[in-house]
Order: sequence, then C-alpha cells, then structure tokens
Amino acid sequence: MPKVTFFPSKKTIKARPGQTVLQLSRVARVAIPTRCDGNAACLLCKVTIEKGTVSSLSASEERKLSERDRARGIRLACQARVLEEDLIVRVPESRLKSVVEKALERQRLEEEEW
Ligand code: FES
Repeated sequence: MPKVTFFPSKKTIKARPGQTVLQLSRVARVAIPTRCDGNAACLLCKVTIEKGTVSSLSASEERKLSERDRARGIRLACQARVLEEDLIVRVPESRLKSVVEKALERQRLEEEEW
C-alpha cells in the first residue's frame, strides 16, 4: 500500500492506487484550496509532486497546466492519482500566510535595531 506524505505539514497517509491526491489530502486533513470540487476547473489545487510517480496528465491538465508548471512537477491534486509508489507532495503555503510572515520578520528586525 503506497504512502503519501504532504509537505510542509509532514503528514503521511496510506493510499489505495487510484485515489486522487485531493481525496487523500482531505483524509489527512491537509488543506488544499478548491472551488470546483475536483472538476479541474478552478486550478486552485496545484501541488508539486516532489517524489514518486502519479497518473499521466489528464486531458484537462494537458489543456490547463503550462509547460513551465509541468516541467516543475506541478499537478492538479484533483486529477493526479496515486499509482503503486510512495509520494511526496508539496502543498504551496497560502500567499496570505507568507505575506504575514514576511511582515512579522520585518517588524522583528526593526525592533532589534532599536
Ligand atoms: S479542485 Fe479545482 S482544479 Fe482541482
């Protein structure tokens, strides 16, 4: 039974071949944003497959993912299905979270200067 590990949360879950990365993220309680409920329409569920092989690109992914995305291992979590291999999947952190973290770091640095 293959295992899927999500980063940065480092949550690992056992998977059955054929399950989508999005389905597994829900079981593992890893937040991957969606608006189309897995219909390959919103493109919010992009993840990076860092290790392992998933199903071939779906027709929707072939139309909607750029060459650059594909070269970087980016897939739609709602379309990428687990095969027999273990996977490492990186879920992008939300932009809001990274903006807040940078602002807090800047504030910390300014306070140190005083
Ligand atoms: S959930 Fe909308 S594209 Fe995957």
